[in-house]
Amino acid sequence: MNILLLGKGGQVGWELQRSLSVLGHVTALDHDSTGHCGDFANPAGIADTVRALRPDIIVNAAAHTAVDKAESEPDLARLLNATTPGVLAEEAARLGAWLIHYSTDYVFDGSGSRPWVETDVPAPLSVYGRTKLEGEQLIQQSGAQHLILRTSWVYAARGGNFAKTMLRLAQERERLTVIDDQWGAPTGADLLADVTAHAIRRLQQRPQDAGLYHLVAGGETNWNLYAKYVLDQARKAQSAIKIVAKEVAPVPTSAFPTPAVRPHNSRLNTTKLQTTFGLTLPHWQQGVARMLYEIL
Ligand SMILES: NC(=O)c1ccc[n+]([C@@H]2O[C@H](COP(=O)([O-])OP(=O)(O)OC[C@H]3O[C@@H](n4cnc5c(N)ncnc54)[C@H](OP(=O)(O)O)[C@@H]3O)[C@@H](O)[C@H]2O)c1
Repeated sequence: MNILLLGKGGQVGWELQRSLSVLGHVTALDHDSTGHCGDFANPAGIADTVRALRPDIIVNAAAHTAVDKAESEPDLARLLNATTPGVLAEEAARLGAWLIHYSTDYVFDGSGSRPWVETDVPAPLSVYGRTKLEGEQLIQQSGAQHLILRTSWVYAARGGNFAKTMLRLAQERERLTVIDDQWGAPTGADLLADVTAHAIRRLQQRPQDAGLYHLVAGGETNWNLYAKYVLDQARKAQSAIKIVAKEVAPVPTSAFPTPAVRPHNSRLNTTKLQTTFGLTLPHWQQGVARMLYEIL
């Protein structure tokens, strides 16, 4: 199998380099790759890359993920999150290739407390959410065989993440304030990459399972409880990190105004994915504990 991976340096892209490697030959590109264009700001260049490499599978981990910045650069966000994924899908359709793509709970308005299902009506609150939804729609309309995986609250051991920020602040301050009114499930980039590889394998046998799925770790939490879990684990690990924070005070989202509005309810129902692909998604604490074990 010939696989083209785009956005190889991102959280998910990095883990996909590992998980896809057992499926076949992977050509992995980033926006500044040489030889073949991997720059989503250049849709014609991306089309040329697909035509030249003729992959069986295209996995797109590239995106404009700077949610607040997207509010002030909506044209670039649309190009990266919608227009170029649409071009990619057209090229995949022409070639008969599969397109695997990631989307987000930000396509929903975050109302209520029920986990969103795939058939719920999207109503994005931000430029990021709107452009990601447009990307989904262009892929769905293209006629390409596709898999769209909507996820949320992605973290990776590599690079910065929420847990590392909390650990740093907890060594500097006695009191942290962390919002407690946004709910979701922290989801490891490694889990996303492993499930993607599994799904690609299954789709070769069962192409009728193509479509849109929600993919997040099990359970739910809010950012405040997530922070407390991270600090508890750090205390238990008795590592060199000295936690001085005595309190993680809950505050509402309104305490930290941001350019982009965040959904309060980022819960995603994963029953469709677990049933269709025969998978059990682990509790979010399992992945976070593993990541902490690596960094503590
Ligand atoms: N992060 C989350 O919490 C989250 C939540 C829900 C859904 N998702 C979705 O999951 C997918 C993977 O996200 P992630 O967390 O891995 O994001 P990420 O770490 O920000 O990775 C995004 C990748 O896109 C690349 N990129 C940026 N501009 C580009 C361009 N012009 N051309 C080509 N590549 C470009 C980035 O490269 P540089 O780093 O070099 O700019 C980076 O490698 C995305 O579709 C995202 O929308 C993420």
